[in-house]
Amino acid sequence: MNQLHHIAQKPARRIIGVMSGTSIDGLDIAQCLFHHTGTSTQVEVEAFTTIPYENDFKEALHRIAQKQTDLEQLTLWHKRFGVYTAEQVLQQLRNWNTDKSTVDLIASHGQTIFHAPLQTHHREEFGDATLQIGDADQIAYRTGIITLSDFRQKHIAAGGAGAPLAAYTDWLLFSSEVQDVVMLNIGGIANYTYLPCQPYKKMFSTDTGPGNTLMDSWMRTREGLPYDKDAALASKGEVIQPMLDHLLKHPFLQLQVPKTTGPETFNLDIFETTQLNIFNSADVMATLNFFTAYSIAENIKQFASYLPVKIYCSGGGAHNPLLMQHLRNLLPQCHFHLTEEKNIPGDAKEALLIALLANECIAGNPEIFNSTGLPAVRLGKISLPS
Ligand SMILES: Nc1ncnc2c1ncn2[C@@H]1O[C@H](COP(=O)(O)OP(=O)(O)O)[C@@H](O)[C@H]1O
Ligand SMILES: [Mg+2]
Repeated sequence: MNQLHHIAQKPARRIIGVMSGTSIDGLDIAQCLFHHTGTSTQVEVEAFTTIPYENDFKEALHRIAQKQTDLEQLTLWHKRFGVYTAEQVLQQLRNWNTDKSTVDLIASHGQTIFHAPLQTHHREEFGDATLQIGDADQIAYRTGIITLSDFRQKHIAAGGAGAPLAAYTDWLLFSSEVQDVVMLNIGGIANYTYLPCQPYKKMFSTDTGPGNTLMDSWMRTREGLPYDKDAALASKGEVIQPMLDHLLKHPFLQLQVPKTTGPETFNLDIFETTQLNIFNSADVMATLNFFTAYSIAENIKQFASYLPVKIYCSGGGAHNPLLMQHLRNLLPQCHFHLTEEKNIPGDAKEALLIALLANECIAGNPEIFNSTGLPAVRLGKISLPS
């Protein structure tokens, strides 16, 4: 407890942010150095890497997320993912020649295995709920470093939906612009934070629907590949209009913002299997790629139809050239930028977010979020090493 108090008082904190998104592609580890908190926060990403998951490991996590598992597997993987996170963090610290004693905190998101927003299950008595695995006591004990985890639960407790959380980082690090800004992250699911420059407009953060998840599911199940690298397959196909029309009727797209979703909703079950078998794989991918861009663009358009808006893109989808081209075509009034311009590597943004939430939890004052509409609470649970 004394150590926690000491860390909270320090002028600078080194925090390792660890993230695994719904794409289940790999473990993102970012070594971040924070000065100050709140709107004065300054952060440097000192080192970053993604450790790609081995095939068996990835498939096991996918099976859990797709409910093709039992409670024993879930229990075992909760521990295993925690142990794995600890081992990978320790290995990276060695690779980066970072002395463990200079790390103040680890902030671990864990792996989302089920996201259950009220909007999807409609059972008022349960409300919004979400579940991440990767036991942080394992991480704290094995690394000897105080670890924060389970960041989404307090958000839900305080009236949020557990996602997206990126609004905290987006507002703290990007809201000083003189222009309306959209912070678009295209992970498994796509989400954005709208940061208006006019004080009378309210900021908000929302999921838009699929990011890479539909495209990845197709590539995994039909092509035996983890994803469509550089849209090589989708670029060879033509959009299948009846399939696109079917996708555009998805009820999630009609919901008002803010809204949240997950691969539980956006997976290949949204098609009739027989319907899929008759199409050429490149055409299906071209359709899924366009649909993904369209669902993102239509959502943003509701708020960015007149003013020129700056869009900062991050997440793996920003590396998909066809997806980005569709977005530029569909949003001609928007100027596209990368978070790299603000010294934040796009692939590191989510891991940085988790580290920032830990910095705020330990040393910040949640009241600064009162004006934003975000739940003004400290997110994260604290695991002590001993
Ligand atoms: N060069 C690329 N071309 C096409 N897609 C890419 C490329 N690089 C990454 N991606 C996509 O990004 C996904 C990973 O994105 P990420 O931001 O890590 O998502 P998550 O946060 O859900 O883990 C991959 O599964 C893949 O679909
Ligand atoms: Mg990822």
